[in-house]
Amino acid sequence: MKKEFFDNKIEGFSKISKEEKIEWIESNYFKNKPKSILKKYWNKDQSLQKLHDEFTENTLSNFYLPLGVAPNFLIDGKDYTIPMVIEESSVIAAACKAAKFWRGKGGFKTKILNFKKTGQVHFIFKGDKNKLFKLFDLIKPILLEDCKSINSSMKNRGGGILDIEILDKTNDIENYFQINSIFDTVDSMGANFINSCLEQFASTLKREAQIYNVFDDNEKEIDIIMSILSNYVPECIVKAEVSCDIESITEKGINGLDYAKKFVQAIQIAKTQTNRAVTHNKGIMNGIDSVIIATGNDFRAVEAGVHAYAAKDGSYKSLTDVSIENNVFKFWIEIPLSLGTVGGITNIHPLVKWSLELLDNPNGKELMKIVAVAGLAQNFAAINSLITTGIQKGHMKMHLINILNSLGANDKEKEKLINFFKNNIVSYSSAKTELTNLRNNGF
Ligand code: MEV
Repeated sequence: MKKEFFDNKIEGFSKISKEEKIEWIESNYFKNKPKSILKKYWNKDQSLQKLHDEFTENTLSNFYLPLGVAPNFLIDGKDYTIPMVIEESSVIAAACKAAKFWRGKGGFKTKILNFKKTGQVHFIFKGDKNKLFKLFDLIKPILLEDCKSINSSMKNRGGGILDIEILDKTNDIENYFQINSIFDTVDSMGANFINSCLEQFASTLKREAQIYNVFDDNEKEIDIIMSILSNYVPECIVKAEVSCDIESITEKGINGLDYAKKFVQAIQIAKTQTNRAVTHNKGIMNGIDSVIIATGNDFRAVEAGVHAYAAKDGSYKSLTDVSIENNVFKFWIEIPLSLGTVGGITNIHPLVKWSLELLDNPNGKELMKIVAVAGLAQNFAAINSLITTGIQKGHMKMHLINILNSLGANDKEKEKLINFFKNNIVSYSSAKTELTNLRNNGF
């Protein structure tokens, strides 16, 4: 082991200690450089550090992202302060602004439109497909029975396997079929539960195809390709909405109707132009991902599912929509979200537990609502800026502190320059010039 330490290839890396891993990294990738910063980020509380080390393989250190909060959200008549984990400087400020704006107009209203998730056993069958469908009908009770123990605790919680069906996919790929299974995973995201059920369906199907007297000997073989949940959840949809009288909008001195019309045009553009839709939805995901990370959920799964949903009609579109009817401005989002408030790291990561507690320990559906609201609020704040002052004014103000930090400004210099830029346009070069002036001319 030690001998291989200084080669760039290493066997058994996961087995060596954390100290040894760091030593190997430093001697291979940071030769002649000072000791790395990795250990500075270790938590002094060893049991807490061990907990984080064990979340994944080959952990070397912790990677900080800021955890902030956005207060003043009124959702279905209940007050929330929403936890958000995000590095982008203006996102939480934008959420706070949107929360305040809509709080005065009745807040956010939400609704779960449906709540089903799916997974598939993907397999190849080269025999007579009519016989395959007959076999499936015959063994459906056995497929479900074999999953009984996996399904039992989910069933006790009010969910479980809702249905299974066989799908003919031979128009897409020769001899290709699916067992499509539909689940209610209650308060868990349910990936492990769904995948365990699917793997059981796969082995039951393979076994029963051999036993049942349906096929000729030469067509009994079921070739299982894979069994896996789908992160596409178009039937697990939450809607969040805000509305107000047009006259009550008095943003930046613009008349309510003009504002609302411009807002509608902004949404129309995001509904028809892919180049705008992607950025528009990225802004929505600023809000969504930050709450998802704070609550220990899988943002990659949500991102993949959300973007597929945005393209479900054949072109990539805005996830939000707007209307003006009878003098009422209405703005809403309908979004697929598969989330959990139990399972995964939700009850082990201390900051995730804290975030969920801050949200009054929501169940899965309540969390879907809060997350959808965070997305809608973020999109409102972005469009509000875009159609009035432009985005850069607020964004660069928030980003100024990062620029000053990257220029090495000290606290006193930061204070002076933040004050100076209250009335001046922020850019990297102007910040650099002003810092130099300050240093040359003194305070
Ligand atoms: C920046 O992170 C997000 C925005 O670009 C979103 C948008 O343009 O709607 C401001």
